[in-house]
Amino acid sequence: MSKTIIRFGVIGCGLMGKEFASAAARWCHLTGIDFVPKITAVCDANEAAAQWFKENVSSVEAVYTDYKELLADPSVDAVYCAVPHNLHAQIYVDIITSGKHLLGEKPFGIDQAANQLILEAIARHPQVIVRCSSEFPFFPGAQQIYQWVQERKFGKIIEVEAGFWHSSDLDPTKVINWKRRIATNGEYGCMGDLGMHVLHLPMRFGWKPKSVRALLSKIVPERPDGQGNLVPCETWDNAILACEVDSEDQQFPMVLSTKRIAPGHANTWFIRITGTEWSAEFTTKNPKQVASLPYSPGGVQAWHLVDAPYKSAYGTITGGIFEFGFSDSILQMWAAFCDELAHGKQTQQPFYCATPEETAYSHRIFTAALESNKKGQTISIDWRG
Ligand SMILES: NC(=O)c1ccc[n+]([C@@H]2O[C@H](COP(=O)([O-])OP(=O)(O)OC[C@H]3O[C@@H](n4cnc5c(N)ncnc54)[C@H](O)[C@@H]3O)[C@@H](O)[C@H]2O)c1
Repeated sequence: MSKTIIRFGVIGCGLMGKEFASAAARWCHLTGIDFVPKITAVCDANEAAAQWFKENVSSVEAVYTDYKELLADPSVDAVYCAVPHNLHAQIYVDIITSGKHLLGEKPFGIDQAANQLILEAIARHPQVIVRCSSEFPFFPGAQQIYQWVQERKFGKIIEVEAGFWHSSDLDPTKVINWKRRIATNGEYGCMGDLGMHVLHLPMRFGWKPKSVRALLSKIVPERPDGQGNLVPCETWDNAILACEVDSEDQQFPMVLSTKRIAPGHANTWFIRITGTEWSAEFTTKNPKQVASLPYSPGGVQAWHLVDAPYKSAYGTITGGIFEFGFSDSILQMWAAFCDELAHGKQTQQPFYCATPEETAYSHRIFTAALESNKKGQTISIDWRG
């Protein structure tokens, strides 16, 4: 099958920049697709960070330290941008203005004002395809839950709980980095880091909270700076948001949590929906398993636990009995983005990457959550406009 080659530039050659390169290198894993990404240029302000790309990604022809040079490079069709949050607004707006398509990282702007600037740039350049990275809904178990919600299997929804927990900051001796500073990570703290992952499915389902009561925690107040000093660790470590959803035909409570300090959890993304006719749960803690509980009046209430087959949005060479993991979800998300670049709205399958509008929704919720925590009150969220 002949394949459309999409020439990518990567801005930010850190953790996530490399994850993309690794997914692109594994593209032969996917079957039945007619598009392929090719990383032709990379940029990092720190020259040493691009070294890994020089050594490992043979398609890279140009290495820049100034992202504006990458944007002027005519060999680049689309950009993946994975830089600290304080740089999102400026760099994303410049990418969009250059006419190149963009997969940007969450939270898509350090705060609501920055997010708004990005959305305004998109409105000025509607021909550019812009999406936000969020890979967890591509796990087969999450796709199954997405399917069940589309089929309206739950009856009256009783409640929803969704979260993303890890414990990489439990160790108080861990040296501080940009993710623990307000200037670079933002006031949202853990919500900006992890919240888009939690909100991707609820937003896709149209579950917009009409109010939020937030409890935000700072658990480790100081960290070593790597030079013998202790410095303030400014950002929120954990957040619990109690939301009241009032969608077209359903009203229910929804508890969203993002935790950087959840002992025993490495990278646990989960969603649990209980309903009067069907309940379901998926967690990446048990990535093979999906739980469901059908109920009819007077019937038994028994959870059914099945090993979810490797049934991904895009076909792969992997047999159905094998396990799906984090790097598979990244690969699937990239397939969804490249599918849109190659085919516009005529994509092979319906689950598309998180949209800029969905990031704007997440910013409304996080901004209201900050206000709620500050005032100790429930804050209403106005979804008009
Ligand atoms: N989707 C996910 O699962 C996931 C996971 C982790 C991080 N992220 C997001 O990805 C983004 C980057 O996080 P990361 O963990 O890769 O960070 P990182 O610190 O590993 O990498 C960021 C890179 O950006 C570079 N950089 C800084 N300023 C720059 C500039 N002006 N021009 C070009 N490069 C510049 C840094 O030198 C660094 O190499 C953030 O938005 C973060 O929230 C997403």
